Amino acid sequence: MRLDKYLCDALGATRKEATKIIKSGDVTVNDQTQKSGAYKVGEQDVVEWQGRELSQPGPKYIMLFKPQGYVCSHEDGFNHTAFVLLDEANTKDLHFAGRLDVDTTGLVLITDDGKWSHRITSPKHKCEKTYRVWLVDPIESSYIEQFEQGIELRNERELTKPAQLEIVDEQEHEVLLTIHEGKYHQVKRMFAALGNKVEHLHRERIGDIILDEALEPGEYRMLSEQEINSVWK
Ligand code: URA
Repeated sequence: MRLDKYLCDALGATRKEATKIIKSGDVTVNDQTQKSGAYKVGEQDVVEWQGRELSQPGPKYIMLFKPQGYVCSHEDGFNHTAFVLLDEANTKDLHFAGRLDVDTTGLVLITDDGKWSHRITSPKHKCEKTYRVWLVDPIESSYIEQFEQGIELRNERELTKPAQLEIVDEQEHEVLLTIHEGKYHQVKRMFAALGNKVEHLHRERIGDIILDEALEPGEYRMLSEQEINSVWK
């Protein structure tokens, strides 16, 4: 898309206004001042106006590395909401495609596209989620089979769906657990049912979307087309 058209869409400006803004030298593409309205903006280009990153209107799809101490809801009387980590307009239109507990870190997906998030959170679609878990007590060899067969959680009638456990480091009590459902506090409750306790929980993957290693806790980025579309397959 041409830069002048990009500005029209992002700022709601007329073509004449967009041309004037570009000529003023206030617009950068990938940190370089760009004075040509004909410049073709590519998918990876970062367009800024007066230092503020612009984006095209339309659905937003965000990956956030949630740090500890933030809640996945719009309001909480006590903790910060994870929305304060986003430097985006209209965060009130956004919601979480699956929450993490306040003390859990890692991948959260945020969007304003309800159909897309439903695809992730609806039990019908059995979207896989992988957690790295550090346990208080040693890992028992029977865990792998118990997770595969299903675990009886407190106050639940049905067993959990088969889940895959991989032992990463016996000394550090570190495992990777992949589950296909998302009951309340599910991972903590699964280990509690086996008599162990989660020391720290970190989500690494939702479906085919993997937490970007380039992100530090509290940082976020927009999802790529490929990541967005992966949810529909
Ligand atoms: N399971 C939990 O127990 N907590 C989370 O935050 C996510 C999954």
